[in-house]
Amino acid sequence: MSIENIKKDFETELANCHTLSSLEELRIKYRGQKGIITLLSRTIKDQPKEERGAFGKNVNILKNNADNLLNNKKEELKVIELESKVESEWIDPTIDIKLEKGHLHPLSEIQNKIEDIFTSMGFVVLDGPETETEENNFEALNIPKDHPARDMQDTFWTTDGNLLRTHTSAIQVRGMKNLKPPFKVIGPGRVFRYEALDASHENTFYQVEGMVVDKNISVANLIASMKTLLKEVFEKDVKVRLRPGYFPFVEPGFELDISCLICNGEGCSVCKQTGWVELLPCGLVHPEVLKHGGIDPNEYSGFAFGLGLNRLVMMKYGINDIRHFQSSDLRFVKQF
Ligand code: PHE
Repeated sequence: MSIENIKKDFETELANCHTLSSLEELRIKYRGQKGIITLLSRTIKDQPKEERGAFGKNVNILKNNADNLLNNKKEELKVIELESKVESEWIDPTIDIKLEKGHLHPLSEIQNKIEDIFTSMGFVVLDGPETETEENNFEALNIPKDHPARDMQDTFWTTDGNLLRTHTSAIQVRGMKNLKPPFKVIGPGRVFRYEALDASHENTFYQVEGMVVDKNISVANLIASMKTLLKEVFEKDVKVRLRPGYFPFVEPGFELDISCLICNGEGCSVCKQTGWVELLPCGLVHPEVLKHGGIDPNEYSGFAFGLGLNRLVMMKYGINDIRHFQSSDLRFVKQF
């Protein structure tokens, strides 16, 4: 084929190339190792001597010309392909997509609120592990092994002899061991009991422990603090009653009940038809417990309380079954 014809064919085919991949095919066809122009330039040396110079020159012009055209076309096609990609894949960030927003769970919300209330009164927030030692959960709280009070809190034991804490009182034990009196602490957390479930009993629930140790702490201090707490949480006056309650780690011990806000004190499944809900067990810290925590009961006294967060949320929002909290039912969570 003449140089002139090769040039024509190449230029026609080039004009028909519309993609980078077909351009690459064309390049290989003409300028690859076995390409038409490449092979042609290898025949220069076989030409008759007198034609060789002119032939060589023309083949070189053909070759350089083809390379230039290929390069230019490549740049052109790159731009075109990028533009069509931008056109087909563009997104509009201004479109208003209705994404559902998450929010805090009512238990977290109330816990935050309680932490705010207490830190504003000078309390420090403590943390503790959910798996506890028998010592921190029971012994240090004046509940030795065979004490009948162990039956008040059925326990999940771990195979290595530890347990899932049955109450946040284990946090006050850690507090006493680590802090020097006077101190005011709260310890929020999740607790576990091996219980049969019903409308007011769960095996997993939340408490906030509170403890104040100072000189001359009395029941009057305890009651004043509990009243402030309830007023701030409910943002209204709620009817409360105080009655004796037994816990081995306080003396005297109390049950602070509030009038059931679900049935307005008339009796329902949550308050077990009594019209009252146990919300805030509390008392003055037993001297044995102070001693166990390394605090001299002759010098210091204290009060402690254990607030049930689930019940608090139930009262606040009129939730009539504690099992909703663990049900994973989104309809429940989305109401708040
Ligand atoms: N830890 C007790 C419970 O969970 C509650 C409590 C705490 C009682 C502090 C008195 C003082 O049952």
